[in-house]
Amino acid sequence: MSKTVLVSGGAGFIGSHVTVELIQAGYEVVVADNFSNCDTTCFEGVKKITGREDIPLVRMDFCDEAAVRKLFADYAIDAVIHFAAYKAVGESVAEPVKYYKNNLQSFLNVLDVAQEKGCNVLFSSSATVYGEPDTVPVTEQSPRKPATSPYGNTKQMCEDFLRDTVLATKGLVKGIALRYFNPIGAHPSALIGELPRGVPNNLVPFITQTAIGKRECLSIFGNDYPTPDGTCQRDYIDIVDLARAHVFAVRRMLDGKMEQDYEIFNVGTGRPVSVLELVNAFEKVNGLKLNYKFAPRRAGDVSAIWADPTLANEKLGWRAERSVEETLKSAWDWEKHLAGK
Ligand code: WQD
Repeated sequence: MSKTVLVSGGAGFIGSHVTVELIQAGYEVVVADNFSNCDTTCFEGVKKITGREDIPLVRMDFCDEAAVRKLFADYAIDAVIHFAAYKAVGESVAEPVKYYKNNLQSFLNVLDVAQEKGCNVLFSSSATVYGEPDTVPVTEQSPRKPATSPYGNTKQMCEDFLRDTVLATKGLVKGIALRYFNPIGAHPSALIGELPRGVPNNLVPFITQTAIGKRECLSIFGNDYPTPDGTCQRDYIDIVDLARAHVFAVRRMLDGKMEQDYEIFNVGTGRPVSVLELVNAFEKVNGLKLNYKFAPRRAGDVSAIWADPTLANEKLGWRAERSVEETLKSAWDWEKHLAGK
């Protein structure tokens, strides 16, 4: 009998790619989303890629406790992957209460029911919990630094909520936190990808929208950082590689392979790439010239952070496989698909 995974926020960028990989790995998936930050484009794409028209989709808000309880009453959930949250760093600084109310309450509702049902929980965390690391690459033992934004703070707090729930249930609820670095790219089918609303905050969608002509010029925020070319370094991980890490983590949970009741994994490539290197790679692999300029630093940016992914490689049996060039081609193919090209 296939196990069933609830994917909260499953109609979004990461959630939709994870849903594809879970289904293709033989899991049943229930997608729940309030569509506050996406439309049905990616969910329709998931159905086309998997050939499954029968994927349950529940429109609901995870801040609504009764709706969360109904969801767990209507479906026999073996594990939940929690993506449903706001994720714009800058917006979180401007509107902290909106972020704390939404991101914390939604996860607390999930944990409340999960502990009653003994359901395992996988939390979508972020490398942002490391702040400006003292040394790179960062391991899971690297200290979490005071969050540089309310968004980052909600990630740290939700990790603690999960840890404490696992401890309180003495392992009845098992928990895994996956700390993503910088997810980029799109599914090779170009049927699902990143669909930012309004002006993109993140680098790669801004690059592809500049290349397609939706944006005039890319501003590279700062070229005076203490890095080889002066621009910030990040660990850009392909979205399909990231999605596959969730399948490995769910398998570890549901097949009883966990060594601790609460485990944390860095999900990254281990390869630092600077903004300028990424721009140059995008131009080269897609055969185009990008209009960009250097601009002042963006508040809150860290100069360099990338993962030591050894633990995920060894314990999950997962490693990133796609090159940054392949990923940037998939990002461009997706942008052209959106433009009907
Ligand atoms: C990457 C680099 C920018 C836009 C954040 C969150 C993280 C994750 C991904 C949320 C930085 C530079 C960007 C632009 C630029 N989750 N940049 N011009 O800030 O590393 O991580 O998003 O989605 O949790 O913290 O990602 O893509 O915004 O920036 O020069 O127009 O690109 O300064 O150096 P970030 P990013």
